[in-house]
Amino acid sequence: MNVWLFGYGSLIWRPDIAYLERRRARLWGWERRFWQGSHDHRGLPHHPGRVVTLVENAQGHCDGMAYLVQREVVFETFEALDHREKNGYERVEVGLELPSGAPHRREPTPGAPTAGAPTRGALTPGVVYIAAIDNHAFLGPAPLPEMAAQIRTCEGPSGRNIDYLMDLARALRELDADDPHVFELEAAVRGGG
Ligand code: BEZ
Repeated sequence: MNVWLFGYGSLIWRPDIAYLERRRARLWGWERRFWQGSHDHRGLPHHPGRVVTLVENAQGHCDGMAYLVQREVVFETFEALDHREKNGYERVEVGLELPSGAPHRREPTPGAPTAGAPTRGALTPGVVYIAAIDNHAFLGPAPLPEMAAQIRTCEGPSGRNIDYLMDLARALRELDADDPHVFELEAAVRGGG
């Protein structure tokens, strides 16, 4: 079976995976938060950065990008992502809202199977990586200035933490996705507050 993979962090602007099609998508009941510590990508063990995870909120939602991974490469795709996201993230099966007729549709690979087009509001099975609140690297909430200062100063093997935040904010604007948590953090980091 082809599998929809929901990206709400770096997968939005740097998927680095093979996919048949991508669509703006919404995950109901979860919200994006910079509450996961990053010792291996955007920080170091003694100075962890902050990256996004999802936390449950029945009234909330998270907008991101969903990628349709072809059946034949599902195993290797998830193996690579499991390795890349080994610092606390687990795969979770979810229902995704995939508005039909969304932009970002890719030209299908010749001969490749195509996805169905669910109507708006219908949920399509998908997979998402979530770092749960009980994982070893979870940092949880902190005052905005404290999170901003941490993001401004951290850097790891994948680059500066501040670039991760700015890339995410830009990618969300391109998707026309609202996310007060991300945009407030961006403003705090830019403003030095
Ligand atoms: C994502 O971009 O959706 C993502 C976030 C955390 C871990 C793996 C993927």
